[in-house]
Amino acid sequence: MKKLEEYVRSIPDFPEEGIIFRDITSILQDKDGLHLAIDQMQSELDGIDFDVVIGPESRGFIFGVPIAYNLNKPFVPVRKKGKLPCETVEIEYDLEYGSAIIEMHKDSIKPGQKVVIIDDLIATGGTIEAITKLVEQLGGEIVKIVFLMELEGLSGRDKLKNYDIASVIKYPGK
Ligand code: PRP
Ligand code: MG
Repeated sequence: MKKLEEYVRSIPDFPEEGIIFRDITSILQDKDGLHLAIDQMQSELDGIDFDVVIGPESRGFIFGVPIAYNLNKPFVPVRKKGKLPCETVEIEYDLEYGSAIIEMHKDSIKPGQKVVIIDDLIATGGTIEAITKLVEQLGGEIVKIVFLMELEGLSGRDKLKNYDIASVIKYPGK
């Protein structure tokens, strides 16, 4: 059986020159790749006591929901601005390419809840840093952050020094 790393398709010079794009669609479109990704991310939560999984639109949903479902926990979506119908908290943050505003429903995390954050990728760390601020504003406690992939050359971990972080596949570059 192939290793998870072998299912990731790497595309040079996308979306701009000098960037190697790590494509997750090649994992998702293979039944074994999909199983390996979910299972290996989920195993990072062994022994962790938590109440809720949250993940950012859109790739965070792909991995966050099956893990929440498997572990019998609820899933809270973090969405790009303008999509959620009820009262929200929001934050603007810098992306690798530009900036964005994300938001969560105010009632999605209760004070004192233990939160696990799931996403496909840590690049600059800006997305997850913004989410940590929203979760803490709502009174949640972040107990673990799990990524499928990490671009170590972008030092995203430096923005998340206070948290327990795991990434399944590490790339030394950008
Ligand atoms: C990508 C990726 C991570 C984030 C990582 O999401 O899925 O969420 O960027 O970058 P960072 O560590 O520099 O914040 P993107 O905002 O491109 O949206 P998508 O998930 O909808 O594709
Ligand atoms: Mg994303």
